[in-house]
Amino acid sequence: MKENIILIGFMGSGKTTVGNLLAKEMGYTFVDTDELIEKKANMTIGDIFATYGEEAFRSMESELLEELNETLDHAVISTGGGLPLRKENAALLRTLGVVNYLQVTKEVVLERLKGDETRPLLAGDNVEQKVEELLSKRDSIYQDASHVTIDAGKGAPEQVAKDIILNYTSMPN
Ligand code: S3P
Repeated sequence: MKENIILIGFMGSGKTTVGNLLAKEMGYTFVDTDELIEKKANMTIGDIFATYGEEAFRSMESELLEELNETLDHAVISTGGGLPLRKENAALLRTLGVVNYLQVTKEVVLERLKGDETRPLLAGDNVEQKVEELLSKRDSIYQDASHVTIDAGKGAPEQVAKDIILNYTSMPN
């Protein structure tokens, strides 16, 4: 297996924050799939959803993942919350490195994303219901797609990063 650390999980689970800390600590390159897609398309995620729709965005994610699979080693990869939904993406992620699921509750997501306007799937009214529905649909998908589940709702990001490193460095090669 390649030596990458992959973070998956719901919006607001801390993938980007924890990922940056992990990369620094491990001396790995940090890669964020949302950021790379925005750069490639020269558009924000919100504009990509509004202009081309969710399915087109999912295809961009799959295409990017294929590219990362060719090139990345010794990297921390923070993924968009919906990236593991496609089965082929989930399978590819697991060959790309150790996949950590940052698990959080609905309450944590709502608290962290209060006032956020960058997530098209949570835009508009009934945010609590949207989070609840998506989270309950996705929790088992994230579990199946990952090698490790990490409780990312309680401790500080530094503690979450420590938990991931402890597990990663104790794994047999
Ligand atoms: C999405 C999560 C977002 C982004 C897009 C769709 C999702 O990334 O990819 O808005 O389907 O959960 P974050 O998980 O980094 O917020």
